[in-house]
Amino acid sequence: MAKEEKSELIDKIVSLCKRRGFIFPGSEIYGGLANSWDYGPLGVELKNNIKSAWWERFVHQRDDMVGIDAALIMNPKVWQASGHLENFSDPLVECKKCHHRFRKDLLEKNICPDCKGELMEPKQFNLMLKTFLGPVENDDSIVYFRPETAQAMFVDFKNVLDTTRRKLPFGIGQIGKAFRNEITPGNFIFRTREFEQMEIEYFIKEEEWKNVFEMWRKEMWSWMTDVLGLQEKDIHELDIPDGERAHYSKKTIDFEYDFPFGRKELYGLAYRTDFDLKNHFKEPPYENVEAGEKLYPHVVEPTWGVDRSVLAVLCQAYSEEEERIVLKLKPNLAPYKVAVFPLLKNKPELVKKAQEVYHALKKEFTVAFDERGNIGKRYYSQDEIGTPFCITVDFDTLENDDVTVRDRDTMKQERIKIKDLQIFLTNKLS
Ligand code: GAP
Repeated sequence: MAKEEKSELIDKIVSLCKRRGFIFPGSEIYGGLANSWDYGPLGVELKNNIKSAWWERFVHQRDDMVGIDAALIMNPKVWQASGHLENFSDPLVECKKCHHRFRKDLLEKNICPDCKGELMEPKQFNLMLKTFLGPVENDDSIVYFRPETAQAMFVDFKNVLDTTRRKLPFGIGQIGKAFRNEITPGNFIFRTREFEQMEIEYFIKEEEWKNVFEMWRKEMWSWMTDVLGLQEKDIHELDIPDGERAHYSKKTIDFEYDFPFGRKELYGLAYRTDFDLKNHFKEPPYENVEAGEKLYPHVVEPTWGVDRSVLAVLCQAYSEEEERIVLKLKPNLAPYKVAVFPLLKNKPELVKKAQEVYHALKKEFTVAFDERGNIGKRYYSQDEIGTPFCITVDFDTLENDDVTVRDRDTMKQERIKIKDLQIFLTNKLS
């Protein structure tokens, strides 16, 4: 795809998201708020489907994982110990002429991209988002919104261990919001100041780290291709060199994705050593009495951005065909799995029968009901939001108790008995 087409693509996706209720600009009626976005009725379904697939796959389906859901604001001592107050910063440069500010490491040239002015010397800018807890606003009441969900998994490590009696290796997973005072947010939901992460801290013995790192590398590939439906050719691994990794990491791979605005980080996989647990616990927090072991576990951390997952999925799924726009979402991710239509809105017997089908299917699937306009328009409307199947109740239905089922991708139609619909859809959607 040519560069102009790619930049057009992101505009088309942003416009579809607004038009159909996936994602709206945050605080829009007040003029918005610096790159904040709200997920609308369809967006929250897509996002929740991604999060549930993740939780199911990495927490429920594995014997070596448990989950937590910790507070967003933690004791500031956490961030002292984790090194974030000291090290979690990006190099900021300011233009001498227009005073716009940029992240130095993201600039292609050493001049202001807005006015071509000269740039000042870079300063380190801490990304932690501050607020005050309680009624008094002074230094003692300063707290920070967490910049990663990870730290709660370290701070709660002993509580989890004591309550679950886990033995190494095992992992703790969490899905939740993280906050960073990004210097240059942008590219729609790609870089925002408030976003969601799905993270695993996987605790191991030091000598196992290379094998475990490899195991998670494969798991992350499988997630991207099998669950999200991203294409292998659009995903690239970047081994982050010494000196450019986060302060806690001995090895990091970024999984980059070919977004329409360029190849950018989608996810990360890091070997965090025993850095975090050593900084939080004075005594080794792990003990296996039978094995005579007392140690600081090492950690491999696979981390996934939720919003970047949503964006990659939308970029992959968006397609234009002759007369229609289709979101070719994998069925497991589609906000609605099925839409039900009566052929004609003004025939009460058709509407009644369609309502019956709709309510029966709603017990099993997320289902839309539409009786506006003509059938063709309704199909295209569902294609645009990625609904895999549309069901039409017509006059033959009243005679034969069957319906037309139309496939989003092939646009082929077939007659299915109402009593067989559930099993038909379950097979097709799995
Ligand atoms: N605990 C490790 C950690 O937080 P990270 O690479 O800084 O590592 C993990 O962040 C993931 O979170 C990224 O790969 C990306 O998917 C997502 N992410 C990071 N900053 C983001 C931002 N400002 N907006 C949206 N997603 C972001």
